[in-house]
Amino acid sequence: MSQTTAFDRPSISHSQDTPELAATYEEKSGYQFEHGKVLIAALGLKRGDAVLDIGSGTGRLAGHVAEIVGPRGKVVGIDPLPLRVEIANAKNIANFEAHVGRAEDLSQFADESFDAVYLNSVFHWVEDKPRALAEIKRALKPAGRLGLNSADPKKRHESAVLSREALEDLGVDSAHGVAAPILAVDPDELRALLAAAGFGEIEAVEHVFVDLHEDVDGLIAWSNSSSFGNNAIVRLSDEDRARWRAAFAEKLEAKRTPDGYRLERYLTFATATKPA
Ligand SMILES: C[S@@+](CC[C@H](N)C(=O)[O-])C[C@H]1O[C@@H](n2cnc3c(N)ncnc32)[C@H](O)[C@@H]1O
Repeated sequence: MSQTTAFDRPSISHSQDTPELAATYEEKSGYQFEHGKVLIAALGLKRGDAVLDIGSGTGRLAGHVAEIVGPRGKVVGIDPLPLRVEIANAKNIANFEAHVGRAEDLSQFADESFDAVYLNSVFHWVEDKPRALAEIKRALKPAGRLGLNSADPKKRHESAVLSREALEDLGVDSAHGVAAPILAVDPDELRALLAAAGFGEIEAVEHVFVDLHEDVDGLIAWSNSSSFGNNAIVRLSDEDRARWRAAFAEKLEAKRTPDGYRLERYLTFATATKPA
């Protein structure tokens, strides 16, 4: 099984986040929040459940889950980006707290601590997926549920395809798209990873989301903040970035509707259960 590294970045950086990117993500992550609610609905959470949100970001979805599990339940978030953990904790949600951490190391949690674990828009950033899944299984109670979604390397988001084309046209950089998730897995790889980790009741279903973006710069801001500094655009010279933006804007015209730019995004949603 191969994890896709088609965009030739050796690793994901967790040190390029900035206060501006973190604040922008909190403001513009409505797309992730909406598809996150679809992921949560599939987990069948109950009042009183203990839930782990891996890659909790600024805590928007965790706040929604905290309402579902209620005051007798709890939501714990972990994320490698301290600035986003800070925003999450500043919300002062009584039954939610976030810590710095990453999926591959859940040693801060005892075995069989959680009724459910989820990763929303996170799995395609996780570098060591088998290790993360082994850790998740350990931290789940018997019969505990896992839900995650992942980008598919064979079906890139429309915005990423157009961004990459704009770069290629300029001859600036043919390798990267805007917000390219470089460790995406297709549905078969996802099922195989979950089975190899010992999960049962595995389901993986592809979803198509239609986003409407008001303007080019809003789309770029959403994309940059979603990838916390991991895309080629932020590393271009000012001159090349301006050329890329103009080329990208021109390509986006083909997607213009009266309601904004209409762009499709593709994610595989998976659920699985730890054997009882
Ligand atoms: C697009 S954001 C999603 C945030 C949040 N889950 C949401 O639904 O809005 C991706 C998040 O994954 C986190 N992340 C990246 N690599 C990770 C890893 N190895 N373990 C846990 N989280 C990771 C990032 O720090 C970032 O906050």
